[in-house]
Amino acid sequence: MDIHQPLSLLGGLSAAQFMRRHWQKKPLLVRQAIPQFKPPVLRAELFALAAQEGVESRLVQQSQDAWKLRHGPFQRRALPPLQQPQWTLLVQGVDLHSDAVHALMQQFRFVPEARLDDLMISYASDGGGVGPHFDSYDVFLLQAHGKRRWRIGRQKDLALRDDVPLKVLARFEPEEEFVLEPGDMLYLPPRYAHDGIAEGECMTYSIGFRAPARAELAQELLARLAEDAGDGDGSPVLYRDPRQEAVAQPGAIPAGLHDFAREALRRALAEPLALERALGEYLTDPKPSVWFESGPTGVMLEGVYLDRRSRMMYDAHHVFINGESYRAAGRDATLMRRLADERKLSARELARASDDALELVASWCDAGWAHAWAD
Ligand code: SIN
Ligand code: CO
Repeated sequence: MDIHQPLSLLGGLSAAQFMRRHWQKKPLLVRQAIPQFKPPVLRAELFALAAQEGVESRLVQQSQDAWKLRHGPFQRRALPPLQQPQWTLLVQGVDLHSDAVHALMQQFRFVPEARLDDLMISYASDGGGVGPHFDSYDVFLLQAHGKRRWRIGRQKDLALRDDVPLKVLARFEPEEEFVLEPGDMLYLPPRYAHDGIAEGECMTYSIGFRAPARAELAQELLARLAEDAGDGDGSPVLYRDPRQEAVAQPGAIPAGLHDFAREALRRALAEPLALERALGEYLTDPKPSVWFESGPTGVMLEGVYLDRRSRMMYDAHHVFINGESYRAAGRDATLMRRLADERKLSARELARASDDALELVASWCDAGWAHAWAD
């Protein structure tokens, strides 16, 4: 992607300008971000997805000031009638189930893949919404069908009501208001207050991001480092204390144990590339609901493309795919990085790969992580 090219998706800004001026900073309203937008998922298809096990869905219903929240799956008959006002069905991770939705999300890959989360679709009957709230992550709200009135505000007071089952702001102070029509899009940075209310039947696509929380990331990485931190030949290195003197206060932890513990952690962290490996594996781990169907086995002579559910990234020394890491260097590394960036390689590009790399890619095809395509 040319990050300096003006994009209608971003209202004529280039991706570079958008990231500098708006990302994590201030909202952007784009009229006709996607002109003549035709939503790739019809209402009936969305309802069918919401009925599936392993698809995360929620139903929000409002009557006057009372809110009800239920979690899916929902059979069609469990959803309110379409004519009933003020209900919303939210279906998470639709990009994992629809190639067209996955393709739509690719337009937002001027943000690193490590930060992209999923595409949620909401269906609302007239007057439906999830109440005034804020999100912890950046979001692009693309109007897909019908109209939605958004009110937004910069407020610092993010206190929530404690009498409703969803996160609704106690005191919403909107400053701006826009009605979005199909193809229009609103970008909001994290913690920006907003409320979107359907005007007639409406569908909104939320392109959502993820950002690791520091404490959770430390927990995750330390667990992975600990798993890797074997004691070399397999026999554990035990704490030894031949100079331990007799103690009158047996409850006190010996200072030597503090040193031993600190050294254990230092060694785990000092292992070359262990942290990088753990991070890449963590970031590319498939979501818990994801499973792959194994593909046809055999030698691959055509190009390849990544399955829409595959997560692939790289750093200076590794490539990562679906929670696994591989050391890669030279021409193979260049090719693998290209596969991660473009999510496909042509037959011509693949012809430059070493036998080992070809074998690896073939094993990914066997696992259903990638597929062959004839270009
Ligand atoms: C919705 O689509 O109904 C809610 C999206 C949001 O406010 O984040
Ligand atoms: Co929101």
